[in-house]
Amino acid sequence: MNKKINKKDNFWLSLGKPILALAPMAGITDSAFRQLCRKHGADVVYTEMVSADGLHFDSQKTLGLLKFSPKEKPVVVQLFGKDPEKFIKAAQIVTKLGFDGIDINFGCPAKKVVGHGGGVTLMRDLDLCYNIIKNVCDHTPLPVSIKVRTSINKSPQLNSKCGDKKDGSGKVLALELVKKIKDLPITAIMVHGRSYEEKFSGEINYEMVKEIKENFPAIVLANGNITNPKIAQKTLELTQADGLGLARGLYGQPWLFEDIKKFLKTKKYKEKTWTQIKKVALEHAKLNFKFKKKHGIIEMRKHLLFYSKGQKQAKEMRKELVKVENIKQIKKVFQKY
Ligand SMILES: Cc1cc2nc3c(=O)[nH]c(=O)nc-3n(C[C@H](O)[C@H](O)[C@H](O)COP(=O)(O)O)c2cc1C
Repeated sequence: MNKKINKKDNFWLSLGKPILALAPMAGITDSAFRQLCRKHGADVVYTEMVSADGLHFDSQKTLGLLKFSPKEKPVVVQLFGKDPEKFIKAAQIVTKLGFDGIDINFGCPAKKVVGHGGGVTLMRDLDLCYNIIKNVCDHTPLPVSIKVRTSINKSPQLNSKCGDKKDGSGKVLALELVKKIKDLPITAIMVHGRSYEEKFSGEINYEMVKEIKENFPAIVLANGNITNPKIAQKTLELTQADGLGLARGLYGQPWLFEDIKKFLKTKKYKEKTWTQIKKVALEHAKLNFKFKKKHGIIEMRKHLLFYSKGQKQAKEMRKELVKVENIKQIKKVFQKY
């Protein structure tokens, strides 16, 4: 690493291990959800992915995604894009806004991102990855991190057999990316333990995450399928990672961070009662309302369905929750069930 980041500028270095991070999720990890996760034990939270191009062109819609509360800190903003030049202004803007770190997306398989050559498909061009990361590092004093998948087939055709070659030569591995950027001052890497072709299902490739940990001189966070404290412990053991990135496992249970911390210390944790769940759900709804007014409640509906999962009369309750328009109506449904 040639650029030394001051310890005082690098919040990552002051976090206890294992580090539990809220992974970036578009449409989910908005300011309300990030605050809630911090309150319930997240050590660091990532924003939804934000377009570097949007920031470069001063898009008001993109800038709108960058609002955050001091209560979220440390908060890492995640950028996506494919043009190294556009990342320069983007990095400068988010630095000025007071984020604690910048993450770059090399893992997103969403059509709207890969369709433009961004996200995980960047991994097919390691020189381009290098130039993007270098431009960000060169234009911010903030710690820079990256998020990757374990591999991607070299062939752009999704169902190509190219990646199936026995010697692995049909794939670009995250390990190759890590080796390529070894002279850049990257502080952390979150590894989604699945390939691009596996999208969001299937087992995590613990071995590959471990291999990255062995070859990457800084913080490694393992990500994928962490839905309960036992799996969290298993993931840490099998990957030897410095921490975990939690994503869909938080749906309807943002307190999973606390449960994991408790379990790692005591081998026990307590399931929340429905009364406790309703209390957190209401708190979440209030935060959403504070930030986005009525639109926040509309966005909250999907979370309310997550919170109600597995409860008695969930089917009837959900029919009412999908229609709520304000806090009073949410309270009314919760009083009924
Ligand atoms: C709704 C949704 C949105 C996501 N948005 C992003 C994103 O903006 N940036 C990113 O790097 N990954 C994104 N991801 C991927 C997650 O961060 C995570 O890598 C993935 O869901 C695997 O973890 P899990 O199995 O615990 O869910 C998203 C995932 C989901 C389900």
